[in-house]
Amino acid sequence: MALDLNNFSTDMTSKEEVRSDKKLRIGLIGTGGIANSHIQSYKKQSDVEVVAGADLIPGKAEKFFKDHGVDAKAFTDYKEMIDTMDLDAVSVCTYNRTHKECTVYALEHGLPVLLEKPMSVTLDEAVEICKAEKKSGKIVSVGFQPRFDANMQMIKKIVQSGELGKVYYVQTGGGRRHGIPVSWSETFIENDKAGLGAVGDIGCYSIDLVMNALGNPKPITVTGRATDYFGKTPEAYSEVGKPECAKKFSVDDFASAYIRLEGDIILDFRIAWYMHVDTPGDTIIFGTKGALRIPSTDCWNGSFDKPMTLYHDVAGKPVETVIPLLPATPNLFDLKIRSFLDAVITNGKAPVPTSEIIYNQAIIDGIFRSSELGREVEIEIPEI
Ligand SMILES: NC(=O)c1ccc[n+]([C@@H]2O[C@H](COP(=O)([O-])OP(=O)(O)OC[C@H]3O[C@@H](n4cnc5c(N)ncnc54)[C@H](O)[C@@H]3O)[C@@H](O)[C@H]2O)c1
Repeated sequence: MALDLNNFSTDMTSKEEVRSDKKLRIGLIGTGGIANSHIQSYKKQSDVEVVAGADLIPGKAEKFFKDHGVDAKAFTDYKEMIDTMDLDAVSVCTYNRTHKECTVYALEHGLPVLLEKPMSVTLDEAVEICKAEKKSGKIVSVGFQPRFDANMQMIKKIVQSGELGKVYYVQTGGGRRHGIPVSWSETFIENDKAGLGAVGDIGCYSIDLVMNALGNPKPITVTGRATDYFGKTPEAYSEVGKPECAKKFSVDDFASAYIRLEGDIILDFRIAWYMHVDTPGDTIIFGTKGALRIPSTDCWNGSFDKPMTLYHDVAGKPVETVIPLLPATPNLFDLKIRSFLDAVITNGKAPVPTSEIIYNQAIIDGIFRSSELGREVEIEIPEI
């Protein structure tokens, strides 16, 4: 089945300023690393006040608010925060394993949610989030801020313009040569907290980069393999001086997968937190009229260091067109926060909707199921 390449016109940046008459009262769930970016962006919004925050580590939320100079009520139990505070929305900034419970509870109590990426650990959890969202009538927007970057948007514009013809194969991924993230927090490497390693940390960005550009074709099957050859060795932490992390490591540090997508498209994916090579390859989108090469960076977090190249034929001769690198969009995080607030105020569509990100989660879920079973698996997403 051919993809409808003309079905996308979404421009992620808000064209008009939307401001609430009354200050929106925000609660934060989880006050660790990424919550710092959330509160910094919320503080820049004139129609917002962060009034509460919860972190299950006693004293952590208090210290967080003190450090940010914000007069907000601190809790250890997010349910108590939601039950007792008058809130308009929450940011869920917890580690992946608790994304689902916090998001579902907030929705059940009538609160829209800005949920950090990845959406969840398993597909079942993502389905539960979607069901709770539908039932509540409140939005969940998933925290993929690279979608707001001008170069990222250019990828989608090129694919959707039809310039590449019919897209039939995509290779994507990326990774770091030595980059298991333990310098600020160790929750990323613990299975009972993160649930996913390189795949959930940076792999989900690579998947979103291409899925968003393609118009989110449904994944059908996955053959995947996730491994942990490096994270369990003390040497992997020698540069950060934390050899003890080897004992804690219980997630993946590398994964690769071959994914069949609706529309007869193959997605060839690989991601690494640690490897003996500089990159597992650029992202390349192969089409019947042209191919687009997107140079690899450490992770697809919205950063570009080299321009993209379009390979096509002109008058029967192979030609390469360099796509000028656009200035990096400043304050991607502010755009993520503001677009969420705008949707809350206007009762609008979530800027990064779960109806799209559930496919990302289905692919991730498929990679781990396939890896465990040692064979290709089908992807079945129940009716929401
Ligand atoms: N969008 C981005 O650029 C970006 C960057 C980094 C991390 N993240 C995502 O943000 C999430 C958190 O990452 P982090 O680096 O902040 O981790 P972190 O470990 O520094 O912080 C998570 C915090 O959540 C708290 N928490 C966990 N479960 C809780 C619960 N049920 N109730 C209350 N508090 C709870 C923990 O105690 C911890 O303080 C992850 O899902 C990660 O993938 C996104």
